[in-house]
Amino acid sequence: MVERINEILEKAKTAVGEVSSRANFEGVKAKFLGQNGALRELMKSMTTVAAEDKPAVGQAINVCKVEIEGMLTAKLLEIEIREAEALLGKKVDPTLSNHGSCGIFCHPLTKIRTQITEILSKLGFTVADGTEIETEWFCFDALNTPQSHPSRNESDTFYFPDDTIIENVSKNSSERYVLRAHTSTVQIRTMLKNRPPIRVLSPGTVFRRDAIDATHFPSFHQCEGLAVEDGMSVCDLKSTLNFLFTELIGEGCETRMRPSFFPFVSPGFEVDFKSKNLGKLSNKWIEIGGCGMVAPSVFRNCGYEDNASGFAFGVGIERLAMLFYGVDDIRLFFQNDARFLKQFKVSMI
Ligand code: PHE
Repeated sequence: MVERINEILEKAKTAVGEVSSRANFEGVKAKFLGQNGALRELMKSMTTVAAEDKPAVGQAINVCKVEIEGMLTAKLLEIEIREAEALLGKKVDPTLSNHGSCGIFCHPLTKIRTQITEILSKLGFTVADGTEIETEWFCFDALNTPQSHPSRNESDTFYFPDDTIIENVSKNSSERYVLRAHTSTVQIRTMLKNRPPIRVLSPGTVFRRDAIDATHFPSFHQCEGLAVEDGMSVCDLKSTLNFLFTELIGEGCETRMRPSFFPFVSPGFEVDFKSKNLGKLSNKWIEIGGCGMVAPSVFRNCGYEDNASGFAFGVGIERLAMLFYGVDDIRLFFQNDARFLKQFKVSMI
């Protein structure tokens, strides 16, 4: 068995070494790691291995798999560099930062984020910063989200190990650090730091333990909005969202709010919009985020009076970019593939 494993490894070395194109690459990858590939065959023949040898043989197969994966990853990088060089007509050094290319293209997520902040700056919103590493209090408790809420499960949120210490982010001994699961944490940070009137936006990265597929990625982006002022009502919220989406998508865009539940707003709503010019999604209601009036308990947690009033909303930046640009796979935003990015010519910077 060990001989067979070594033989496969040797064959893989030769085959990967000879790969010269992407099509070729996929073929070789399938041959060794695919459904009917050599490693699968090896795994199947584990049934014939004596019980006492199984752990060692299993481990040897695993080592072989990791080695082949490593060779394939290195080869893919080589192919990608070659493709990028052909596309750009010059040498590419993948170890250099890509800041220089901002002068030509702008990442679609950056485009959407900039548009949102520019549009709402016309209504007096400024950008507030948050932190990606948060304590449970900022991410959940202060936002009225009880221990029993499903979003607090280990299967949904990324928790740091209990004994982690992060300088400059103080926490209670009973809580843990998390990677923030939404930008709503910035509502709390802003309200603790400032007093009304408040109008802030906070675009940023959020993290959830989602399995990767065409519409899910474990880190993605949201933009939070928060306004706190005397006498604010649902009308202010609705007209702000109307303004945002009409400016973003164009005249004839409609916004709808459906009653929903988020622990930190009351009442809470799901936000949908509908537009005439969105390709095959034209004239269909599309869900784009959550919103509502800031809940009294959230105001209390920030030391505000009970009669404080304000609204908050959160929209998904990838989701907007996918709709606008007809992108059907979220992974494209994070692959840094020049062929994808080249389509987003700069109209800013
Ligand atoms: N934080 C919510 C989410 O991630 C969205 C939201 C923001 C809802 C603000 C209401 C108010 O789903």
